[in-house]
Amino acid sequence: MPRIPEDILQRIRDATDIVDLISEHVQLVKKGRNYSGLCPFHDEKTPSFSVDPDRQFYHCFGCGVGGNAFKFIQEIDRVTFVEAVKFLAERAGVALPERSGPSREEAAADDELYRANDLAQKYFHHLLLNDDAGATARTYLQTRGLTGETIERFGLGYAPPEWDALLKVAGRRGLNPQILERAGLALPRSTGSGHYDRFRDRITFPIANISNRTIAFGARALQPDQEPKYLNSPETPIYHKGRVLYGLSIARETIRRQDAVLVVEGYMDLISLAQAGIQHVVATSGTALTEDHCRLLARFARQVVLLFDGDAAGSTAAMRALEVLLGTGLDARVVSLPAEHDPDTFVQEHGPDVLLERAENAQSVLDFYLEQLAQQHDFSSVEGKARAVERLKPLLAKPRDAVRRDLLLREVAGRLSVDEQSLRHDLQASMRRPQQPRQAGPEPSPTAEPEPPRHELEFIGLLFNFPQFIPETVSEFAPDALTDARTQTLCRTLFDHHAHGKAIDLGMIISELEDDGLARLVAQCAAQGFDEEQVERQWRDYLLYFQKNALQKRIDSARQALAAASDDGEIARISAELVALNQERQAVAAQQSS
Ligand code: UTP
Ligand code: MN
Repeated sequence: MPRIPEDILQRIRDATDIVDLISEHVQLVKKGRNYSGLCPFHDEKTPSFSVDPDRQFYHCFGCGVGGNAFKFIQEIDRVTFVEAVKFLAERAGVALPERSGPSREEAAADDELYRANDLAQKYFHHLLLNDDAGATARTYLQTRGLTGETIERFGLGYAPPEWDALLKVAGRRGLNPQILERAGLALPRSTGSGHYDRFRDRITFPIANISNRTIAFGARALQPDQEPKYLNSPETPIYHKGRVLYGLSIARETIRRQDAVLVVEGYMDLISLAQAGIQHVVATSGTALTEDHCRLLARFARQVVLLFDGDAAGSTAAMRALEVLLGTGLDARVVSLPAEHDPDTFVQEHGPDVLLERAENAQSVLDFYLEQLAQQHDFSSVEGKARAVERLKPLLAKPRDAVRRDLLLREVAGRLSVDEQSLRHDLQASMRRPQQPRQAGPEPSPTAEPEPPRHELEFIGLLFNFPQFIPETVSEFAPDALTDARTQTLCRTLFDHHAHGKAIDLGMIISELEDDGLARLVAQCAAQGFDEEQVERQWRDYLLYFQKNALQKRIDSARQALAAASDDGEIARISAELVALNQERQAVAAQQSS
């Protein structure tokens, strides 16, 4: 994750009032020191959502969510931390540094990867347009019906058949083989030393990130017997297949204007549609649609239409994509093309208007899903229906908000003519089973781990609320004196922040924690009230309590060791240790009672 300087984050925090911010989403009423309202993250009738203006922090006593302004935007807009920071920076009028991101070394390393991809792009493109080597490829693209303008627009290129053509060109520009390897453009030879070009004798499709920089390639074979048909760049530090959509950097504004996007599977499908005048299209590149893809799309459009091949592989891909889409709140629909077509051949044969009309009348997720299921199961038999319900269960749990989940469940019950209440019961029972994957969404899981010991939670909560005690705690206390792995982690996180001179900002720490369970625990710890007059004594008591417990554990294990020991020397050593430990414990106990 790119790093944003602490002082910038501080300025954004200072300039943002969490009550104002949350009021844009939730109707808040002042209640004592805090504000309260209906939680936007779970379904409720009485308010259990509370916003603390002093600590700039929110917390829901119902579902356990909590955090600062950054976390709130992350959750409500379903964006990453960095995106939330950008949003709030803009809202608050705080300028982010140009390269608010990776450390200087990482940035420099990434820069080489961008340069390598950029050079490869220019080189391949040049060969396709102007070089004798590109003649066959040019002819091939003509036979596929692509115009010069389209080739130009999508930056298509040709990688020559030599083993080291790109390596040589790059070498002359100071990009060594190791850089090309890291960029996914070259591979180390398996025998001896040296590298060879990854893409050879192929048409190249540059893949760009959202800012339109080339970060990877898809490359199509020219010969029918050349395997694989499409060779793609591997994952690299700047290319993550699951987060990049082919064509988005070109189509993003059109997609935004139309508030709709068509999703296809192939590079050629996208290019062919674009040439036919259908511009609001993106393609996954050799991978299934991911949640990150959907989140990316949701920034530009609300309606998503999947346009998958008419064959069995296409339907399977569509069904999988729909499961992902349902969890995102996007309006997802499907066009299934005739079995012999893909979007490219379909538009070439029938023209763009027919295709657009099909997109207009695309089937809802549920219709498509049920239709597919009906082909596999006999809905008229009890057994068949039961199997279909089993298959539908994961789908029913997908929508993040309770209202959508409810609507979907009702519709499924109606369509399969099963009893709504039994279906609901059934679903709840299967969601409660521990082997079920954890539900996305903020509901507290009924199978949650047991809570850490009360004392440990209180102690962590105290440190969060009164960070002035942290320096002394660090010098007197080791996190492993706590018995619970989660409170240990939180304690280490606090120590770590202290060691790096970072502010102990509750919400900030919550935002940084990757584990939702932990984040919830912090919110819970920190929400406790402490009496300021008493807090120093409390802190001291906790320290002594944990120290005494830790000593007791060592005493217990020393006693066990003593009972098992047979060697005189060892017995003497352990006995001496026991005496020392007991003295230490007494000393601690004496302080405790004073
Ligand atoms: P298709 O095999 O359907 O190819 O793969 P296509 O897009 O219709 O391409 P043409 O028309 O034959 O040129 C669809 C997509 O799946 C990925 C590519 O992203 C391709 O565009 N794919 C396919 C691979 O990554 N590797 C392969 O070997 C094949
Ligand atoms: Mn095709």
